[in-house]
Amino acid sequence: MLEIKFEKQNRTIQVEPGANLREAAIQNKLSVYPHILKILNCRGRGLCTSCTVKIVSGKVDPRNDVENEKLKKKDPDVRLACQVTVNDNLVVRTHI
Ligand code: FES
Repeated sequence: MLEIKFEKQNRTIQVEPGANLREAAIQNKLSVYPHILKILNCRGRGLCTSCTVKIVSGKVDPRNDVENEKLKKKDPDVRLACQVTVNDNLVVRTHI
């Protein structure tokens, strides 16, 4: 099992390697979406950027093509939670 710490919520969850970051958060009743975007989002299809998070620590795969397009002006540690596969212990900052 791997651990993901959600900094702002001060909660740590455990996930299986290969878990999707957005889905892991939702399954543990943590929202990666700020405010009204909890309702108005693309449900993990990489279209809306409302699930943007910062990977504070831990190793993740490089951005995929969707993230490269949507986040090209953002810091490399900024990712779309719906596109991130968890394969390391992570510390994540949501609602950035
Ligand atoms: S949920 Fe819309 S981009 Fe991730």
